[in-house]
Amino acid sequence: MKELKKIALTGIKPTGDLHIGNYFGAIKPALRLATEYDARYFIADYHALNTVKDPKALATHVREVAAGWLAAGLNPEEVIFYRQSAVPETFELTTILMAFTSKGLMNRAHAYKAAVQENLQNQEDPDAGVNMGLFTYPVLMAADILLFNPDVVPVGKDQVQHVEMAQDIAQGLNFNYKDAVFKIPQAAVQEEVAVVPGLDGRKMSKSYGNVIPLFGPEKQLHKLIMRIVTNSQGVEEPKDPETSQIYLLYKLFASEAEQEALAKQYRNGGMGWGEAKEELFRVVNRELAPLRERFNAIMADRDALDAILAQGAAKARPLAEATLRRLRRTIGIIGNP
Ligand code: TRP
Repeated sequence: MKELKKIALTGIKPTGDLHIGNYFGAIKPALRLATEYDARYFIADYHALNTVKDPKALATHVREVAAGWLAAGLNPEEVIFYRQSAVPETFELTTILMAFTSKGLMNRAHAYKAAVQENLQNQEDPDAGVNMGLFTYPVLMAADILLFNPDVVPVGKDQVQHVEMAQDIAQGLNFNYKDAVFKIPQAAVQEEVAVVPGLDGRKMSKSYGNVIPLFGPEKQLHKLIMRIVTNSQGVEEPKDPETSQIYLLYKLFASEAEQEALAKQYRNGGMGWGEAKEELFRVVNRELAPLRERFNAIMADRDALDAILAQGAAKARPLAEATLRRLRRTIGIIGNP
């Protein structure tokens, strides 16, 4: 008999190209977690609709992010990997949860508050540009989560509040029916194993425009690495590895022995920044070249990718249906199939 593992669930927002920061900060940790947990990872396409209104862009982002996770090593035989939109039970559960979510709770959500703050600063109406999708985002996210009764929800720090709101909503519902209808899920926050520095030295982030894309062509990768900002120390000068972005990035990709060797060259002097960048490019490309190849192959076969996601949805839906069947009975929506 298969041993019963705990369940991990997370959503992946398809809003742009994956970069090295996503790879070390989200993808790798989630894939590691999937070896210990029963993992359910999904593409949160209806979350993206709040901000992505161009149909081609949305469709492309969804395929790219799905292909990206597969290329990075997600095994769809082991992880239930699906699109949120292919599990319509999500949306029925959202409607039910709406009745258990106070508007005040949504008023306190960071993302909404930040949007209002920005509007006020620009002397606009506080709710300018805020759609109900953004305002009620935490309810949809609670439905994503509670539908599958996960034990843990791996997320970045910025999403912890949303998971806490899912806990609040679930507790309110459990309390009303005097029943443990929902398991209360815990956020599993990724400790920052390493901050991934961007091209300009700040944390790598799409909003800073300082990212290295995961699946860009080799030439682009080389060009970007050559563009990393350095100080003006000359070739002969000894250099401090720990304060160099090049070295910090190198540590993510190189073996212990390689790291030691490069650190030594830094300290000894006689190595210029250009040479260090070439060595960085070598190890980054060594790891990314096979990923890039797999990514391109997956993107080239649309039917195969769709089939993988459809197979994931086929596994997810019976689980979702079971949750809803139970819940409908609990709340008194009976007589439906
Ligand atoms: N809101 C998450 C993000 O922006 C994505 C997400 C949607 C999610 N639904 C989820 C994460 C459910 C965890 C669980 O990154």
